[in-house]
Amino acid sequence: MPRLPEAGDFDLIEDAPAKINLALHVTGRRPDGYHLLDMLVTFADHGDRLGFRLSPKDAFSLAGRFADRLREDAGAAPNLVERARDLMREAAASIGHPSPPVHIHLRKNLPIASGIGGGSADAAAVLRGLSRVWRVTLPPATVQEIALKLGADVPMCLASRPLIACGIGEEIRPLPHLPSFSVVLGNPLKGVSTPEVFGRLEKKDNPGFSFETGAPRSRDEWLAVMRGLRNDLEPPARAICGEIFTLLELMEQQPGARLVRMSGSGATCFALFDDAGAAGQAAAALHRARPDWYFQAIETMAGAG
Ligand code: C5P
Repeated sequence: MPRLPEAGDFDLIEDAPAKINLALHVTGRRPDGYHLLDMLVTFADHGDRLGFRLSPKDAFSLAGRFADRLREDAGAAPNLVERARDLMREAAASIGHPSPPVHIHLRKNLPIASGIGGGSADAAAVLRGLSRVWRVTLPPATVQEIALKLGADVPMCLASRPLIACGIGEEIRPLPHLPSFSVVLGNPLKGVSTPEVFGRLEKKDNPGFSFETGAPRSRDEWLAVMRGLRNDLEPPARAICGEIFTLLELMEQQPGARLVRMSGSGATCFALFDDAGAAGQAAAALHRARPDWYFQAIETMAGAG
């Protein structure tokens, strides 16, 4: 049997780190129905991985733990990766820059429709990767426009560093002082529909963030700030997917868990620990308790400050 391609076989690699919403407040609604959000966001040292190489014709291949689920869910619809490629090509063509056929390989390590940005992170990695493969520098405003067209979370995944995002996710302020955290990600492997979660939200005009975002703080001070914040999508997501409640309870029971919360519109939840050893032990214990669910110990990226 021929060997399946690996991202490492390609000329150029882009990582698509998992996004974690440490907090998410829904503060209002735009006339077009999109919700206004305040989000405290960081990124993991773990995620999907994409490989790129020039090829006689465009190709897209998939491997990794969640590749089959992605194939099933997508059906005949073009994947976000292919949509990102097509929009990049259109933009390159509009400035007369060549954009030859390319083979993109996606190693899908992150669960699908899970609130940690998987598809958005992949799309952002395609925008970064193709600008390198095609050696094209598009105006930043064009790249932002393409990113937002692909999804509200894609602009923040383009940045892939600790940040505060407002609006529907397009107003981004880097958070250079956010430290790294040792985290366990957990998912009951039930996809949750983002529009359905927003649709079930009872109150859409909750208070936004009110803390000083620029100040340097210790990990403990950040934890105190985060404890005062929420994920407003957690109650509607729990109502749709009862497993989220069980998962949050299981994570809270782990020795050393300092803060447990859902990310994005779910169903991925996260637990923060003091160090990688405690997070690793918790991930192993959680895996023993629910071998059919997804658990992953990770470290989050520190801000660049
Ligand atoms: O932009 P994205 O494709 O990630 O959003 C999926 C759906 O989630 C939207 O069609 C919308 O129903 C909902 N959404 C929202 N407000 C946001 C982001 C997403 O209502 N800020």
